[in-house]
This record gives sequence, C-alpha cells and structure tokens, in this order.
Amino acid sequence: MAYTTIQTKTEGRVGVITLDRPKALNALCDALTAELTEALAGFEADDAIGCVVLTGSAKAFAAGADIKELQEKDFISLYRHDPFEKTWESVARFRKPIIAAVSGYALGGGCEIAMMCDFIIASETARFGQPEINLGVMPGAGGTQRLPRAVGKAKAMDMCLTGRMMGAEEAERAGLVSRVVPVDELMDVVMEAAQTIASKSLPIAMMTKEAVNMAFEMGLSEGVRFERRVFQSQFATEDQSEGMAAFADKRAPHFRHR
Ligand code: CAA
Repeated sequence: MAYTTIQTKTEGRVGVITLDRPKALNALCDALTAELTEALAGFEADDAIGCVVLTGSAKAFAAGADIKELQEKDFISLYRHDPFEKTWESVARFRKPIIAAVSGYALGGGCEIAMMCDFIIASETARFGQPEINLGVMPGAGGTQRLPRAVGKAKAMDMCLTGRMMGAEEAERAGLVSRVVPVDELMDVVMEAAQTIASKSLPIAMMTKEAVNMAFEMGLSEGVRFERRVFQSQFATEDQSEGMAAFADKRAPHFRHR
C-alpha cells in the first residue's frame, strides 16, 4: 500500500506504523488520519499480526491536529462531518495490543493518540502537552478524559489550563508512560516489548487488554465480575490447554492463537 503521510512495515508478528510528515512535525492532517485508519484496519484484519507499534520521528511523535486545516473549520462542518472521529475511534477501539513509541513532541492530538494506545514507551527527549488552550480551544480527542485518568486531576488541570509541556522524566513519575529510555534505544526496546507481546496467544492478549480497559469504564465489583467470566471462558481455548501443558512439560508453549 502506497501511503504518503505514514509508513508501514511488519517485523515478524509486529506491525509498525510510522507517522511521516517531517516538515509539519507529523501534524495530524486529514490525509494522515485517513491513512492511519486504513493501516490500522489492515493490521487488525491480518491474522499474522499480534501487536502494533505506533511511532513518529526523533523530533516529533505528532505536534497535534493540523492547525492550518483546523483553522478553516466551523462548528457545523465539524459537527456534521467530524474528520477525526473515525481515526480516534480506530485507535481507541483497536482490539489488538498497540504500543506508542514516543520521541520529541507529543502535543494536542499527538498526546491524545499516544494515550489511546495501550501504553507509551518514551525516549528521554519526549515532551507531552495539551497546548490547545493557546489556540482558543480545548483538547478534542480525549485529552480532558484520558489525561486525568493517567496522571490525576492536579497535573491534568495544570497541563490543560496552562498548556505547558511535560518532559519524559515527569511523565514517567506521573504514570503517563511505562518506561523512559535513551532516544537511540527507543525502537529496540519497543520492538522487543512488541515481539514479546506478539509471541503470546493473540486472543488471550486481546481479552487481557479488554479487561484492563474495563477498569476505566466500570466500578470495581462489576470489573472483577467481568474479569472472572472472561478468565473462565479462556479455559475453552486451545491456547490455555497448550500454555499449561507446556509449563507442566517444562517446554516453551506453541500458541496457535485459538
Ligand atoms: N499543525 C500544523 N503545522 C504544524 C503544527 C500543527 N499542529 N505543529 C508544527 N507545525 C509546522 C509549523 O507550522 C512549521 O511549518 P512551516 O515550516 O511551514 O512554518 C513546522 O511544522 C515546524 O514547526 P515550528 O517551526 O513551529 O517548529 P519549532 O521547533 O519552532 O516548534 C512546536 C515546535 C513547539 C511543536 C510548535 O510547532 C508548536 O507549538 N506546534 C503546535 C502545537 C499545538 O498547538 N498542537 C495542538 C494542535 S490542536 C489539537 O491537537 C486539537 C485536538 O485536540 C485534536
């Protein structure tokens, strides 16, 4: 597939999507969001893919929605034909594990897309922010909802109201990112994590992701009940039989993703 604003590749069972509009710091223009949606749909449908990595360049993961395009919008056009809705949903509702590998700027929609992924691994140069308030708007891709869930109310309010950026170290301390690594090691570390995830049973990894995400949608007793039912249902899979048999036989499991 010939894309113009992103690049895609596969390495083993891992699909990699690289945002690639260097002159605009990977700003999320209509063309890029359409291509991202298409690439995700392709990896979702491909049984040979067990995990996806979303990344940008060393300078920018993404500097947000494309302000030059946004500037032309009015309320009715956005309300009637929101160009972002499909893309945001395609990332947030992506069913396979997806990791954001972030270097440089992850601002506005860039920070929000990273937060839609299952977890973020950042390089030491990563800078996160919701600077929309400087443009006379507020975050519009889940930032006011996902940021407080990730870092708590105080930091989320601070970021959204002042528009300041948060460096990688602060982001790790606050729980926004799972790990911080040197910039030249970022992709190696992320690919190793992705290959590890992709080596597990895909349906079990998908159910695990769904259960963790339920922690943000449900109360504790409902969530625990959901977890218990899904756990019980996993005993209907071949991969559960294989995983436990392999442990008993002292050998590596050979998951068949069913
Ligand atoms: N949209 C469109 N173009 C952008 C852009 C964006 N979000 N961010 C950067 N660019 C463009 C710049 O216009 C510039 O292009 P030209 O060379 O043609 O002028 C190029 O990328 C390089 O940018 P700078 O010269 O500004 O680079 P810098 O290193 O001096 O600054 C920066 C980097 C601090 C990230 C700065 O570019 C910046 O503040 N960008 C805007 C960040 C922002 O406000 N993001 C939120 C967008 S709104 C949003 O995302 C809404 C939502 O919730 C969905």
